[in-house]
Amino acid sequence: MSSQTSSPSIVLPGNHGNPIVMEAVNLCKSFKEGSGGELQVLKNVNLTVRAREKIAIVGASGSGKSTLLHLLGGLDTPTSGQVFIDDHEIIRMKEVDRCSLRNRKLGFIYQFHHLLPEFTAQENVAMPALIKGMPPYQAMSKADVLLEKVGMTRRLEHKPAELSGGERQRAAIARAMVNEPQCICADEPTGNLDKATAEQVFRVLLRLNEEYGTSLIIATHDMMLAEQMDIIYAVEDGHLTRQN
Ligand SMILES: Nc1ncnc2c1ncn2[C@@H]1O[C@H](COP(=O)(O)OP(=O)(O)O)[C@@H](O)[C@H]1O
Ligand SMILES: [Mg+2]
Repeated sequence: MSSQTSSPSIVLPGNHGNPIVMEAVNLCKSFKEGSGGELQVLKNVNLTVRAREKIAIVGASGSGKSTLLHLLGGLDTPTSGQVFIDDHEIIRMKEVDRCSLRNRKLGFIYQFHHLLPEFTAQENVAMPALIKGMPPYQAMSKADVLLEKVGMTRRLEHKPAELSGGERQRAAIARAMVNEPQCICADEPTGNLDKATAEQVFRVLLRLNEEYGTSLIIATHDMMLAEQMDIIYAVEDGHLTRQN
């Protein structure tokens, strides 16, 4: 009997037993409206993110996807509820500690690249590592490695204005990965690109994510992208509900 037929079928384990890297508990967020009223954008949202998990947050424009990502990343404060990253309740942390935790544990990718215009691609990618305290030569060589992984070897010295939209987003992916975070929060990362470029950039993001074993939370209104993730949630009327 050949070894091929005798080998047992391999069942790949899911991510279910993996450690929790981020958790949102009863998150509520309201914004004051001009009329003096309150807009309740998120109502008692609960979310658990495990290591290596790929999560899509879908929903109509204005449904609260960005608001949720901002709260998860500690970029905004909920009206009530908690966000835990590892065992830290980020809202209770001092701003300086929260920034440090964000820098070490999370990576962010936005619809608009948010690269610093006066710096080269290599410097932009190295920036979070420099902020973390990595020696410059090491941060720059790490940036080189990541830019190579996203297919930008020949663009190291280019400034954002000299890069195409797809290249800017690939540089933004490399920057988000440079400190090897445990979770990437990506807010419509391909929303500003044409379809073919969006697919290329998305593939790069998934490949790097896989390679580094990073969790990924992606806000998107593109169901084609969402369906490539493990879990899909929808935000509707302030509630987060699982779709699959
Ligand atoms: N800083 C803010 N002040 C007031 N309203 C806001 C603010 N940020 C977002 N909103 C409102 O909250 C709702 C959800 O916005 P957002 O999270 O950006 O939605 P999405 O990302 O799903 O398009 C929208 O109605 C938006 O106008
Ligand atoms: Mg948004």
